[in-house]
Amino acid sequence: MKILVATEKPFAAAAVNGIREICQAAGHEVALLEKYSSKEQLLEAVADADALIVRSDKVTQEVIDAAKRLKIVVRAGAGYDNIALDACTEHGITAMNTPGQNSNAVAELAVAMMIYMSRNCFTPGTGSEISGKRLGIQAYGNVGRLVAAKAKALGMEVTAFDPFVPAEKMREDGVTPAETVEEMYAGCNFISLHIPATPETRGSIGYDLLSRMPQGGCLVNTARKEVINEAELEKALTDRTDLKYVTDIAADCQAELNEKFGKRVFATPKKMGAETAEANVNAGLAAARQIVDFFATGCTRFKVNK
Ligand code: 3PG
Repeated sequence: MKILVATEKPFAAAAVNGIREICQAAGHEVALLEKYSSKEQLLEAVADADALIVRSDKVTQEVIDAAKRLKIVVRAGAGYDNIALDACTEHGITAMNTPGQNSNAVAELAVAMMIYMSRNCFTPGTGSEISGKRLGIQAYGNVGRLVAAKAKALGMEVTAFDPFVPAEKMREDGVTPAETVEEMYAGCNFISLHIPATPETRGSIGYDLLSRMPQGGCLVNTARKEVINEAELEKALTDRTDLKYVTDIAADCQAELNEKFGKRVFATPKKMGAETAEANVNAGLAAARQIVDFFATGCTRFKVNK
């Protein structure tokens, strides 16, 4: 089988080598399309692929239609909002993710972002410490749990809101479950977002929640830009001159935010939450193993489409 690794943002070399080894040992062929700059390149490369490994690359209906031999696509990472799941289902293609494999890298970045914003973006001036501050985790999944553990080790008080996780599980981790998301925003100096981009969450973080935050509150987004209502974020930052926003996924209006709010906002130039050698290896090799298993045994353990 031909396995295409298509990554606009390439994996570390160690991950690419590991993917090759796993796939070739099982008798498969690996093709690499890295740093491509046009959709056409992906459409051409995918035409004769039996399997596809991607990161945040957009696997649209058009890509799926062009992939005449495709049987499986694996998103090497957690969020699969970049994959046209219905198109996969329609063509009998299995779509998977690799949950948990890059979570630690993202969690470390969330903690780093809190410190960066507390220390005036590492520019001169008196900052503050995160120890003793209250952190609210929105969605207590793989990344949220790791952020909670790291924040607790750094002396923060941690609360979490997640309607899909039992309160008891949070308490076992020394995390206080919030009854409502509004209550969590009202009580926390920092909110760290770990919700996926879904029809329910898109645009769900806006003025009402942000304006509940205490003086100096900071929203940390290592999740997706789509969950933010950008117009309302801008209004909240305008009305509340103490609020801060730090993100790993620049807002569409980021240039305007930077100009208007200076050091109260910060966006990484390119999404870097999962940009560690460790996360690349973990997610990339997991994707390769899942594909090898799928072809060898039909295993669909991490399937995310119907
Ligand atoms: C994920 O959903 O796994 C993260 O957002 C990482 O995305 P990336 O592979 O584009 O860095």
